[in-house]
Amino acid sequence: MKKQNRFINIIIISNILLSPSIFAASAPKQAICAIPIVHDKLIVKGGNPLRGTIKITGAKNSALPLMAASLLTDDTLTLESVPNIEDVRQLSSMLKSMGANIDFADGRMQISTKSLNDTTTPQKTASKLRASILTLGPLIAKHGKAKVAFPGGCMIGERPIDQHVKALEALGAHIEVDDEYVNAYAPNGLKGTDYIFDVITVGGTQNLLMAAVLAQGRTRLINAAMEPEITDLANCLVKMGAKISGINTSVLIIDGVEKLHGATHSVLPDRIETGTYAIAAAITGGELTLTNTSIDLLPTFIQSLERAGVKITKTADGFTVTAPNSIKNSDITTAPYPGFPTDLQPQYMALMALSNGESHVEETIFENRFMQVPELSRMGANITVTGRVADIHGVKELHGADVGATDLRAAASLLLEALAAKGETTINRIYYIDRGYDDIVNKLVSVGADIKRL
Ligand code: EPZ
Repeated sequence: MKKQNRFINIIIISNILLSPSIFAASAPKQAICAIPIVHDKLIVKGGNPLRGTIKITGAKNSALPLMAASLLTDDTLTLESVPNIEDVRQLSSMLKSMGANIDFADGRMQISTKSLNDTTTPQKTASKLRASILTLGPLIAKHGKAKVAFPGGCMIGERPIDQHVKALEALGAHIEVDDEYVNAYAPNGLKGTDYIFDVITVGGTQNLLMAAVLAQGRTRLINAAMEPEITDLANCLVKMGAKISGINTSVLIIDGVEKLHGATHSVLPDRIETGTYAIAAAITGGELTLTNTSIDLLPTFIQSLERAGVKITKTADGFTVTAPNSIKNSDITTAPYPGFPTDLQPQYMALMALSNGESHVEETIFENRFMQVPELSRMGANITVTGRVADIHGVKELHGADVGATDLRAAASLLLEALAAKGETTINRIYYIDRGYDDIVNKLVSVGADIKRL
C-alpha cells in the first residue's frame, strides 16, 4: 500500500497546481483517485432544457464481471452491448497481457482465454480499476492458482477485499496477502460449502459465484448481493453450463460442474447511466425518453424522483422523464439493491441542490463518497456534511465555475450541475467520466446540451 500512497501524494501535489478547490476548507480529508495525470476538460454552458431521446448502453458493472467469467472456459465467450469505456478497455488490455485473445468492435466482444499463459494480473493495469479483483475467483476455480494485484478504482472508501478472501478460503483456497498482491492456491480444487457474507458485497458475491461454478459439490452463498448485475452474471454462467438456483435472491445455490462451455450473452442495460440521464432531464427542466432500459432496474431511485415531483412515464422499451416546474426536496438513504443505489447518490445530490427546501442524503455503503461536495459548492450549492449525512439546502440558481472531478460518479454530478448552472463551467480531470460513461458528451449534445471537450 506504501507505493500507492506515494503515487497518491504525487497526485495531490499536482492537484494543488490544477485546481486549488480540492483543498477547499470543507473538503473532507481523503485520498484522490490514483490516476494518470491527464488534462482533458469539459467546457459546459448551462441553462438549456434537454429534450429528445437517449439510447442506454450495456452496464459497466455487468460487462466487467462478464469479461472475467471468460476465464472459466477454454471456449469463446461472446458478449453483446459491451460499453466502449475506459474500464472495459483497461480490463481487456490486462486480460490480453495474460494471454487472452479479445476482439471488440461495435459493442460486440469475443474473448477466448484458452491460450492464457499467466495467472498473475499485471500490477500496472490491475491497480487502475476495482474490477481486476474479479479475476481472482475464476482463476483459482479454473487454474488452481492466482496472483492478483490489489485492485484500484476510485478512493470512495477503503474498499477492502476481506470478504472475497474469507469466502474463497471457506471453499478451500489458501490465500496469502502482501501489500501488493493476493496470492491464492487451490491445488486440489475448490470444495462447495455454505458461506454467509458478513457484509453485502457485489464484487464478493460475483467472485464467489464464479469460483463455485467449478467447485466440487454444492455451495450456498448466503446474504449475497442481489444487484441486477449479479443476476446478469448468473444468467450468463447458466448459459455456459453452470448449475445455479436462487438467482435474484440473497441465497445463491451453485452445484459445481466439471467444465463450462462458451456462450453468447447480451450485457444488461446500465441502470446507473439510466439514472444519470434521468436526472439530466429533471435538473435542466427538460424531457428525455430513455430507450433500451427499464424502470424495473431502479425501483427506489424512480420512487425518489417521483417524490421530487419528476414525472415518469413507462414506454415500450424504457421510460420518459419530464421535469417539474420546481423540484421538491426529498431525502434518500443509499442501500444495497433494491435500495437507492450508492452510484446515483452524487447525481441525486446535484438535483437536490436546486430543490425548494432542505434534503438529507445519507451514504451507508462507502465511507468517503461525498468528495463532490466542495466542487458542487463552488457552483453555488449549499451543502453541509456531518459524517455520512449531507444536508442540502436548495438554492434558486447555480452559477458556472472551475471545478475538478475526484471520482467517476462525482464527475457525473458536476456535469449535471453544470448543465443547470447559469454561465460557463470548466470540469477538469474528466478522465473519470470516461471510465464509466460511453460517449456521454455526444449523447448530451444530441439532446441540446452545450458542451465542448478540450
Ligand atoms: C461494486 O463495487 C461496483 N463496482 C460499485 O460501482 C458500486 O458502488 C458497489 O458495487 C456497490 O453497489 C463494480 O461493480 C466494478 P461492494 P464493489 O463490494 O463490488 C464493503 C461505480 O461507480 N466490503 O459491494 O467494490 C465495502 O467497503 C462503482 O460504478 C467489505 O467490507 O462494492 C463497501 O463498504 C463505484 N469487504 C461495501 O462492502 C469486502 O471484501 C460494498 O462494497 C468487500 C466489500
